[in-house]
Amino acid sequence: MKKKIALIFGVTGQDGAYLSRFLLKKGYTVHGVKRRSSSLNTQRIDHIYQDPYSKKRNFILHYGDVTDTLSVSTIVKKIKPDEIYNLAAQSHVAVSFEVPEYTGNADAIGALRILESIKFHGLEKKTKFYQAGTSEMFGKVLQVPQNELTSFNPKSPYGVAKVYAHWITVNYREAYNIFASNGILFNHESPLRGETFVTKKVVKALCNIKFGKQKKLFVGNLNAKRDWGHAEDYVQAMWKMLQFKRPDDFVICTGKQYSIRDFIKMVSKVLGMKLRWTGKGINEKAFDENNRCIVECRKKYFRPAEVDTLIGDASKAKKLLKWKPKHNIHSLIKDMISYELDIHKNDK
Ligand code: NAP
Ligand code: GDD
Repeated sequence: MKKKIALIFGVTGQDGAYLSRFLLKKGYTVHGVKRRSSSLNTQRIDHIYQDPYSKKRNFILHYGDVTDTLSVSTIVKKIKPDEIYNLAAQSHVAVSFEVPEYTGNADAIGALRILESIKFHGLEKKTKFYQAGTSEMFGKVLQVPQNELTSFNPKSPYGVAKVYAHWITVNYREAYNIFASNGILFNHESPLRGETFVTKKVVKALCNIKFGKQKKLFVGNLNAKRDWGHAEDYVQAMWKMLQFKRPDDFVICTGKQYSIRDFIKMVSKVLGMKLRWTGKGINEKAFDENNRCIVECRKKYFRPAEVDTLIGDASKAKKLLKWKPKHNIHSLIKDMISYELDIHKNDK
């Protein structure tokens, strides 16, 4: 049987790394698009070159950028993939307030550029397309829990850009019959999570504090609630969407939510650290057993507009895609902590 070819935009990110591994294990040839960067940006995928699954040169990287029409078009034309996964994005919500125009260019028009390339090169019948949509599109939520029928109400330049990408994907599906599906994925984390997202920041900081390498963790809004899953489970859902009999849109989530404060409490408990909390709002603090203040709030980590609460309903994906997540919040935290502890051991 002919090997399937996948093309991943955003291959160097958290999901790009998990998805590459997943597809290589399934026997795909995986092409990935990476950006030129002055410092290394392939740490998450470097190990794949040593992986037995990629020995036959079935993991190939190309330079490209979703803000650069010609590079997108050239790569799509050259590879003519069976499946394209558009994971490329300026994915940090807080940063999107600082670079709103770039975020729109990459996250909204980037999706359009890929869809246009599929159409322009006559690949409508061959190439399936996955768009990395997000629960941030629900923003100030209009329904609890959120599902595929919940209206979008985004609260950040990132959320707004992703809403465009969602609807242009639906539009190209309807207008040109492209097999184009939207995943609406709630927050998903892992040991490979970017260090400025709150889960990784908390796990890393509390491990550092435990080993005396950091004094304090500074955070923003402790009351925000998120529905956190594991990236390993979520990339499987992306693939399942493109194997389904028709293109469609699917919510992927756990259906459970926790506040940032809850998350800090859970991590500190696993690390055997007892926290005592005092104060409210920006003055809220947590102290350890030795009465040292180890968690404090800082205004700079609050956002100009906040998404207070997200909790999803993945019944459709569970029923139609038979998607079954392996992880829960506890195994996610365990996985993230053991990765950090290994780093501390190796440092020793
Ligand atoms: P991530 O770790 O930030 O990875 C983003 C990837 O996109 C990186 O490979 C990055 O390259 C690349 N990229 C950024 N701008 C680009 C550009 N202009 N051209 C080409 N590539 C570009 O994000 P993630 O957590 O893996 O998420 C993957 C996708 O799912 C993103 O689109 C994100 O918005 C979306 N999403 C994520 C979550 C979540 O909770 N993780 C939830 C819903 C949706 P560099 O390595 O060079 O920066
Ligand atoms: N990053 C960060 N840093 N967030 C903090 C901090 C902090 O110090 N303190 C509190 N928070 C709060 C944020 O205000 C937000 O309410 C919540 O923690 C989660 O923030 P992030 O981890 O940055 O994730 P996000 O929910 O904004 O966005 C992530 O999930 C989206 C899916 O809903 C990103 O991965 C997006 O790309 C993704 O689409």
